[in-house]
Formats: sequence, C-alpha cells, structure tokens
Amino acid sequence: MESQGESSELVAKSAAMQRVIELAKRAAKVDAPVLLTGETGAGKERIARLIHEASHRAPGPFIPVNCGALPENLIESELFGHVKGAFTGADRDAKGLMEAATAGTLLLDEIGEIPPPVQVKLLRVLQDRQVRRVGSTESREVNARIIAATHRDLEEMVREKSFRKDLLYRLKVVTIEVPPLRARSEDILPLAHGFMRRGCQTYQCGPCALSAKALDRLLAYPWPGNVRELEHVMERAVVLAEGKPKIEESDLPPELLGGATVAEVAEGELLPLAEIERRHILQVLERCGGSRKEAANVLGIAPNTLWRKLREYGVIQD
Ligand SMILES: Nc1ncnc2c1ncn2[C@@H]1O[C@H](COP(=O)(O)OP(=O)(O)OP(=O)(O)O)[C@@H](O)[C@H]1O
Ligand SMILES: [Mg+2]
Repeated sequence: MESQGESSELVAKSAAMQRVIELAKRAAKVDAPVLLTGETGAGKERIARLIHEASHRAPGPFIPVNCGALPENLIESELFGHVKGAFTGADRDAKGLMEAATAGTLLLDEIGEIPPPVQVKLLRVLQDRQVRRVGSTESREVNARIIAATHRDLEEMVREKSFRKDLLYRLKVVTIEVPPLRARSEDILPLAHGFMRRGCQTYQCGPCALSAKALDRLLAYPWPGNVRELEHVMERAVVLAEGKPKIEESDLPPELLGGATVAEVAEGELLPLAEIERRHILQVLERCGGSRKEAANVLGIAPNTLWRKLREYGVIQD
C-alpha cells in the first residue's frame, strides 16, 4: 500500500532522474556538502531528503530552511542562534538551526538569497565546523550535514559579486543538477499517477484514471513549474472530476489546453524511434476509446506486449 507520508513515493523512471538518484545515494555515504541545482519545483528538496535518508544521519533530524523567506535581520540568529539580550526581543538564549540539525541534515534552500554579511559567517562555520550564537563568545561544535539548494545560477552571481566564490566552492563539493520535468518526459505519467492516487486517498473519492486525451495534454505541456505544478494540476483534476470514471481534458487547467497535443507536436520533429512508437501507441489507444484489446489489434501486437509497453510508459501501474 501507498505510504501516507507527507511526500509521495519518489518517482525516477527516466534515465536522467535515475542518474540523479544514483549520485545522491553515493553522496549520502560521505558527509561532504552537496549543492542541488535545478528549476523551481523540480524536486531539489525531495532529493535532499533522499540524501538524508540514505545516510547514516537518517535517524537524526532533516531540517529544511528557506533562506529566501527569512528576513535579513533574523537570518543570522535563525541559523546560528542567539543569547539573551543579543538584540531587542532576544529575551532568552536560543539555539539556531545549525545546532537543531545536530546529528542530522540542514538543507539551506534558496542559498542564493543569503545576504553577503551572512555569507561570510556561513563560510566560517563551514570551515571551522564551529558556530557562535549571536551575542556569544563561546563556540559550539557543528555536527550537521549541510546541503544547499538553489534555482539561481550561483556562478553568475559570483561574477556579479553578489555571491562569495569561496562559499560557493565550500558548498559545491558535490553538485547535483535536478533536471526540469520537460527534459524527462518519461517521469510525467508515473508522477501524475502517484499524485492522482494520493488525491483519491485524501479526498476519499475521485477517479483514479486518466482519459487518453488528458494524458496527451500532460505529455505535451512544458511544465514550467515542474513537479510541483504537476502535483497541483493533478490534485485539482481529482477534485474537479469527482464522480466521473476518468479525469478528462476539461478537468485540466486552461494553460495545459492551449498548445499543440503530442500528436500535433510530433509532426516535423526529429524524434527517436522509441518516442514515435510511444506516441503512436498512446494515440491509437485514444482512438480506440481506451480499449487495450482493440488497440493491440490495430497495432498488430499481442495484448501482453501492449500491456508491457503501457506499463513502461507509466500509463498503467502495477
Ligand atoms: N521525483 C519525485 N517523485 C515524487 N514526488 C516528487 C519528485 N520530485 C518532486 N516531487 C514532489 O514535488 C514537489 C516539489 O518538489 P520540491 O519541493 O522537492 O522541489 P524544489 O526543487 O525544492 O522546489 P523549489 O525550487 O520551489 O524549492 C514536492 O511535493 C515533492 O514531494
Ligand atoms: Mg525547495
């Protein structure tokens, strides 16, 4: 059965994503800093969690912090802690996230948003593995694994002098790039099915299937918001399609319905044979109203072969 955790099962059907996972698991074995790059919603935090869970720190805490969401005057005390009286409102000693993540992993998300004065301090903490709470002279040992993530081009920020080069080199001992969803279309349907199943569980209702046309739309859309956008689209679709046997095109948001469908896009495009086969099979299935038996007949292949291929494409699950 599906786990009821906050995040759905990690999907990595594409070769690109399998490489990411393999790298993440290797990085998990050592305590070196990792820098995760990739577009917004691509799954950087999900990979950071995987690194944590695959490491010896798994029993410890995994603490994600969005550096971009912290006000500039609070970021230091949030990360490093403070002592009583360090600033107005500091009415008692407080440990920072560096200390809270002891024996675990601290994910510094949106690392590019850290202001330069804090960058210097962070660099020092990473170098010395020691942290000093704001207003204190006492150093404490840091025992947290640091993972940083960003959707920004830090090298470019270094050139513009808004990000410290020495800090970047400290952080990117291992860099893992999480590819955008449009660059790994094999992941779209398995992800969509996962989110659909979760939606059905959450709402105790809803269809757990996609119409061929809806499926075509999901495959043709470029997903600028990546996996997070797909997650929202599926959740919305499950709710809108309540009471129907399948999610239809009309249950998808308008931005998915504007462009050309897979079949239209394919015209004139230079595609690998396997991709043409996949698109053709899905199209035939749609024209056969979803009947696999009929589609197999039209395609001149055994129903078992069609079944296997649909499973490969993520159209059918288990
Ligand atoms: N491979 C995957 N399998 C299953 N779910 C995924 C996968 N990748 C991402 N998700 C889900 O998609 C959502 C967005 O992922 P995540 O928060 O990791 O993205 P992000 O790259 O950190 O985004 P941002 O740049 O906005 O911080 C989350 O709900 C996450 O659980
Ligand atoms: Mg994130």
